[in-house]
Amino acid sequence: SLKALIGPSILNADLSKLYEESQKLLDNGADYLHLDVMDGHFVPNLTFGHPVVKCLRKKIKDAFFETHMMVSKPEQWIAPMADAGVNQYTFHIEPVTNVEDVCRKIKEHGMKVGVAIKPGTPVSEVEKCISLADMVLIMTVEPGFGGQKFMEDQMTKVRYLRDHYPTMDIEVDGGVGPSTIECCATAGANMIVSGTAVIGAPDQAATIKLLRDTVVQ
Ligand code: DX5
Ligand code: ZN
Repeated sequence: SLKALIGPSILNADLSKLYEESQKLLDNGADYLHLDVMDGHFVPNLTFGHPVVKCLRKKIKDAFFETHMMVSKPEQWIAPMADAGVNQYTFHIEPVTNVEDVCRKIKEHGMKVGVAIKPGTPVSEVEKCISLADMVLIMTVEPGFGGQKFMEDQMTKVRYLRDHYPTMDIEVDGGVGPSTIECCATAGANMIVSGTAVIGAPDQAATIKLLRDTVVQ
């Protein structure tokens, strides 16, 4: 059966303490880390790239790292991210002409494949390449910034995928926290990204546990 996994996004953490904040999340029960990579082109914001991920990996040896690649040329960063110690490479299909090639290249570099779509992209687009992916990410905000409002209408995509692909890992990202997790769980998401709701929580461990318990049910 599918595992409920909670992957906090460190985007809205104090990035001058990236290692400390990441280790704290793992100590508080995070199942993996969701690392938001933005290139200022695919999305109107900049974060960090493979050099930073590589440094983090040197300090955190065993956690599962997912990079959420909000970039225009995802094929360009596959080798550097694999070298940096990334476990799963999740990329947006919107700017990519040959999604299959990108999926294959990620696998060749020993990483799991995640395929992501923005709120405006129909689920049929991601369905075309689902057999090549280990996970589908349904964005529940426009990618680019943390702290935005959860888009409940995206749950029809999650529900559709869960109905048709019962064993697929389905991730949601954007505006997910204690007040929206029920919705995601009911629709069938099992991998949960949560940024500001976890980072800003007075009790991180309790918040992570609440998210996981709601998904497991
Ligand atoms: C948005 C990022 C998300 C975001 C999550 O572009 O992909 O991972 O930081 O943060 P919250 O949970 O605050 O929406
Ligand atoms: Zn993300």
